[in-house]
Amino acid sequence: MAPLVFLLLFGQILLCTAVDTITSTTPLSGSQQIVSQGGKFTLGFYSPPQGNTTSSNYYIAIWYSNIPLPTTVWTATTNVPVSDPTTASLEITSDGNLVLLDQAKNRLLWSTNVSIASNSTVATIRDSGSLELIDASNSSIVYWQSIDHPTNTLLPGVKLGLNKITGVSQRLVAWKSEADPSPGLFSLEHDPNGTPLYFAQWNDSISYWASTPWDFDLPGMVALRFVNSSTESYLLYSTKDDSVITHIIIDISGQLRLLTWLDSSQQWILIWTQPHTECEVYARCGAYGSCNLNALPFCNCVKGFSQNDWDLDDYSGGCKRNTPLQCQTHSTSAHSRSDKFYAMEDVRVPANARGAVATSSQECQVACLKNCSCSAYTYNYTGCFVWHGDLQVNLGEGYSKFFGDGTFFLRLAASELPDQQRKKTTIIGSVIGGVAAFFIILAIVLFFLSRTCRRDRTFWISKTAGAALTDFRYSDLLDDIQSIDSLLLDLLTLRVATNDFGEGTMLGKGGFGMVHKGVLPDGKQIAVKRLSHSSRQGIGELKSELVLVAKLRHRNLVSLIGVCLEEQEKILVC
Ligand SMILES: *[C@@H]1O[C@H](CO)[C@@H](O)[C@H](O)[C@H]1NC(C)=O
Ligand SMILES: *[C@@H]1O[C@H](CO)[C@@H](O)[C@H](O)[C@H]1NC(C)=O
Ligand SMILES: *[C@@H]1O[C@H](CO)[C@@H](O)[C@H](O)[C@H]1NC(C)=O
Ligand SMILES: *[C@@H]1O[C@H](CO)[C@@H](O)[C@H](O)[C@H]1NC(C)=O
Ligand SMILES: *[C@@H]1O[C@H](CO)[C@@H](O)[C@H](O)[C@H]1NC(C)=O
Ligand SMILES: *[C@@H]1O[C@H](CO)[C@@H](O)[C@H](O)[C@H]1NC(C)=O
Ligand SMILES: *[C@@H]1O[C@H](CO)[C@@H](O)[C@H](O)[C@H]1NC(C)=O
Ligand SMILES: *[C@@H]1O[C@H](CO)[C@@H](O)[C@H](O)[C@H]1NC(C)=O
Repeated sequence: MAPLVFLLLFGQILLCTAVDTITSTTPLSGSQQIVSQGGKFTLGFYSPPQGNTTSSNYYIAIWYSNIPLPTTVWTATTNVPVSDPTTASLEITSDGNLVLLDQAKNRLLWSTNVSIASNSTVATIRDSGSLELIDASNSSIVYWQSIDHPTNTLLPGVKLGLNKITGVSQRLVAWKSEADPSPGLFSLEHDPNGTPLYFAQWNDSISYWASTPWDFDLPGMVALRFVNSSTESYLLYSTKDDSVITHIIIDISGQLRLLTWLDSSQQWILIWTQPHTECEVYARCGAYGSCNLNALPFCNCVKGFSQNDWDLDDYSGGCKRNTPLQCQTHSTSAHSRSDKFYAMEDVRVPANARGAVATSSQECQVACLKNCSCSAYTYNYTGCFVWHGDLQVNLGEGYSKFFGDGTFFLRLAASELPDQQRKKTTIIGSVIGGVAAFFIILAIVLFFLSRTCRRDRTFWISKTAGAALTDFRYSDLLDDIQSIDSLLLDLLTLRVATNDFGEGTMLGKGGFGMVHKGVLPDGKQIAVKRLSHSSRQGIGELKSELVLVAKLRHRNLVSLIGVCLEEQEKILVC
């Protein structure tokens, strides 16, 4: 009896004392977890959603303990996932480092890999979200901490910057895909040359976005500040109030996002995003993929191509040609001329064009046909431009044409294209169709603008709004004015809910406008995103916000409750 009581007591003590710490005698394995003292963060084995595959991969990760949507803030980055966490263990080795071992301990998957003077260290998870490797006898000696090695997420109170003395600059790196936390192609880094800029980069080589100091000017409950001194410069991210749960993430789309958790509606609210649209991200859609903000998803394959493995929002695989070019299958020059070109208007041409010698569009076409590696050409006022190899980067559709832009011609096997006669009639048809569509859209937009929110409803969320939004798409929004009607919100209600858009309710502020927190008469918490009046993009901006919301919603993150377009306001309510 006595040993049992002793065991129970001892077990209790272990549970109470070791719950936030890994020691040399208490490794972490299987479903075991450690939780920070205030209960904010948990560390354990985490399995991301796996898309179509049924097997699970596990990674050591830190996530929010109190948020029902699994949201990680750090992962022990390793290219080798753990397939069975019961055979893996996160433990303190004899040299004091924290390591992840797999398969009967003969494989080292990850290590803190620092040199340690003491022979007694422990790893503790903090309420700040940091995992610290500290001296067991003196917790102010920190040998390693996870916030110095951020993955894709920046938490409040954490610096992201450049140490001007050591030259070390920290980076956020996006996950490869929603299913794979290993480092992907997109990253955010402080300029290593010391200018006060942050660059979002593709494959560590090409910058597609550079910050300006005012990008980070976000007064409100969440503040971003750029700090510069002689020894370091960094981005400091803080919250006025500890109860605000927020983080910045470089998403697998390549965009930076500042998100805040809204407790009572159980969702992440997007406060700020840069670059503003996904199509501004370098090579977002992969080879022969085109980015179109009017489509959902934004990435699609161009004509004559189909998707390579587009699972879980990772489009980097690009597209493959449906029919090989004749010049690829027949080496004789006679056949090499039998490929055809598909004309594309309203295109953002891909990067890496080369000049070619030609004095007419016809000569330009011949110049391209001559060489089988030529995949496209355009002829404009500057002359003839050709693209060799795969069209890897930044092809976009749905872009308005500027004066001087030429038509973009994509090389395809002749069998992919209808004969010229039919093509001409379809071109005429599509011109007429396009003009008609333009007027229809214009009419809808005018309808939008002239329409005011309903004043006859004291309470504006129609019971059907939720149902109408289950499969929300921007195009549906345009198609179905009836469902928009049920989404239109009353400005007065919003003014009351947010204390007249008062300072005290402001969650954050970005280039687009402000986000306020509000409470409806029934106690439901909402986030009110008020796009700035001065925003010249106007409806375009609203549209890109709507698409983003729809997309986030699709990932079960954010739901749109409604919009208000009263008195020249452009307001989104989530
Ligand atoms: C530890 O760091 C050293 C030097 O920085 C490096 O050579 C070694 O490969 C690292 N070991 C592991 C397991 O990461
Ligand atoms: C730690 O090091 C001290 C002296 O450096 C030694 O006396 C002690 O036995 C070591 N403890 C362990 C657990 O290795
Ligand atoms: C713990 O370490 C800090 C920093 O090295 C030192 O200043 C402090 O005196 C140490 N405390 C104890 C109790 O050893
Ligand atoms: C990224 O860069 C590396 C070397 O700089 C190169 O080998 C690799 O192919 C690049 N990745 C892609 C997807 O282009
Ligand atoms: C940042 O600080 C350094 C040293 O104090 C100074 O030389 C530099 O001009 C500062 N840069 C900006 C943009 O303030
Ligand atoms: C994943 O599953 C969806 C629906 O079941 C399917 O449409 C898609 O093609 C699948 N993707 C892959 C890469 O197998
Ligand atoms: C086709 O173009 C590529 C890239 O410019 C070049 O390397 C190759 O020599 C060209 N081939 C012929 C047959 O001209
Ligand atoms: C013509 O097209 C090339 C390649 O896309 C581009 O670099 C150039 O600026 C264009 N010229 C004009 C006048 O639009």
